[in-house]
Amino acid sequence: SAAEKGGWSSFMRKEVSEQPEAVANTLRGRVVDGAVVIPELEGFGDDELRGIRRITVIACGTASYAGMVAKYAIEQWARIPVEVELSHEFRYREPVLDADTLVVSISQSGETMDTLMAVKYAREQGARTISICNTQGATIPRESDAVVYTHAGPEVAVASTKAFVAQITALYLFGLHLARVRGTLGEAELAAQLAELTAVPEKIEQVLGEAGKVAQLAHWMADTRSVLFLGRHVGYPIALEGALKLKELAYIHAEGFAAGELKHGPIALIEPGLPVFVVVPSPRHDRSLHPKVVSNIQEIRARGARVIAIAEAGDAAVLPFADEVVRIPLASPLFEPLLAVVPLQIFAMELSQAKGLDVDQPRNLAKSVTVE
Ligand code: G6P
Repeated sequence: SAAEKGGWSSFMRKEVSEQPEAVANTLRGRVVDGAVVIPELEGFGDDELRGIRRITVIACGTASYAGMVAKYAIEQWARIPVEVELSHEFRYREPVLDADTLVVSISQSGETMDTLMAVKYAREQGARTISICNTQGATIPRESDAVVYTHAGPEVAVASTKAFVAQITALYLFGLHLARVRGTLGEAELAAQLAELTAVPEKIEQVLGEAGKVAQLAHWMADTRSVLFLGRHVGYPIALEGALKLKELAYIHAEGFAAGELKHGPIALIEPGLPVFVVVPSPRHDRSLHPKVVSNIQEIRARGARVIAIAEAGDAAVLPFADEVVRIPLASPLFEPLLAVVPLQIFAMELSQAKGLDVDQPRNLAKSVTVE
């Protein structure tokens, strides 16, 4: 009903706008005096967390992209190898698991059957399991050794938005907790990362301020048949998520690629007028990434594609080559995904609306898929 939407025209619009709170509420009470506090993990003692040799993340859909983003952060901070696998693939490939493998499942609903079966399977094989979940008392958390809840609030629109940023937030807290326990980050570095995390809600608020510009782009592109998304490092899963949102909400063919992969195939798809979103890493990222992505932009532009760059405020290097630039506030590299995803969500939502589609309940999809 209109009342449930709190005055918004759709749940999707409401939930996209609630992302600052989704992050803030997931952080609430968990950052105390510059340290991460996760009481829900008390069943996992520090010795056990020090003994983990490998983390396998299992999830489906948008949640799997949150896992991909977290892989970069957890490996960088805690120096533990992380693999991310789709639940339905994991379950059926005889994965190598043992008591030193931690299996982290991510599910907004906590009811996705593929993920539930994968968690049960992991436990049977002797792995320890943690669930990242947005729904209190759901089945997956009940079947796991521990649960770290995301506090995004109920997500009604079928395509996931605010749960995604909350999932990354919870996984980052977990990664920083691991880094402290394992001694892989010093106190100052930990405090700096936590300060970045705490600043995210305010920065998402700023990105939401760009919504009008993104809406205009979407309306110009209402008859687009195909859109590509490129990203690198943590921008890569964001490119995948941007493409997924567009498929789900606007029924437009869309593909996300790792920007470095462009020359290994996807560049053959580039043709005049094709819209290509590029998630540009910060110029302050590892020195070599930014110029590499800028040169990707030049390559696709030279072939006539229409480039929409999602780039940090003040990044002037993209200006000569991008047709449109959507700005995100400065953030250190691992925190950019939490900002860069927002314009992509808005783009898909607005395009759906421009086409007159049901943005909350896209055809053929279910909010939670409770069959295998
Ligand atoms: C469905 C939804 C997606 C969601 C996926 C995983 O396919 O349409 O938006 O990402 O399930 O759902 P979960 O509840 O496990 O996060």
